[in-house]
Amino acid sequence: MADIIDPDISDYLLAHSTPADDVLRDLATETRRTYGGMAGMQISHDEGEFLTMLVRLIGARYAVEVGVFTGYSSTCIARGLGKDGRLIACDVSEEYTSMARRYWARAGVDELIDLRIGPAADTLRALPREPAVDFAFIDADKTGYPDYYAELVPRMRPGGLIALDNVLRGGNVLSPSSDSDRVVAGLNDRIVADDRVESVMLPLRDGVTLVRKLG
Ligand SMILES: C[S@@+](CC[C@H](N)C(=O)[O-])C[C@H]1O[C@@H](n2cnc3c(N)ncnc32)[C@H](O)[C@@H]1O
Repeated sequence: MADIIDPDISDYLLAHSTPADDVLRDLATETRRTYGGMAGMQISHDEGEFLTMLVRLIGARYAVEVGVFTGYSSTCIARGLGKDGRLIACDVSEEYTSMARRYWARAGVDELIDLRIGPAADTLRALPREPAVDFAFIDADKTGYPDYYAELVPRMRPGGLIALDNVLRGGNVLSPSSDSDRVVAGLNDRIVADDRVESVMLPLRDGVTLVRKLG
């Protein structure tokens, strides 16, 4: 998929965001060494800083993540929650998340994270249907996004925030050519027309939509 950010601008953005610490740097290195090109699934460091900042800004205590992989975004979210926070982290892979577990421990956030292995739609449906979630991050299989969004919105507290990653699909949403592109483009259209929420789509990396539940 095309990179929508000029590589020099990308370097500049990273150089002007709070840098990664040793834990996140080592996690990125080990992910690349272990998974090669698949390491591209990992969020970039500036996006991670953005997640930590959002979580802190809204004073989130209860968060949900859909799509853990080796744990970069979950570590960033958990760091923003503070000591009494809780993050329900959803993934289907024991293998990917075994690396995540090691880095959560190194970052000192393992106690905050409740990893649920299984299809995320099932995990979300099993959560109480109460408007209690402060922050959610969606970054898993793209064809699942509509389900994740549908299950999360009723569970968000008024003022709670959902961040959806890869909403531009490398620009393919302008002219969708795969099921994933079509599903994400369709959801983008529905979100902006959803009167339960207000939203803004940001050109951060592959596009991030912030959705705030109205109350
Ligand atoms: C793009 S990666 C997540 C990257 C992660 N946010 C990070 O910062 O490194 C997508 C993840 O979604 C997981 N996944 C795929 N299908 C899933 C499903 N149906 N339910 C839960 N997780 C799923 C994959 O195992 C993979 O770890």
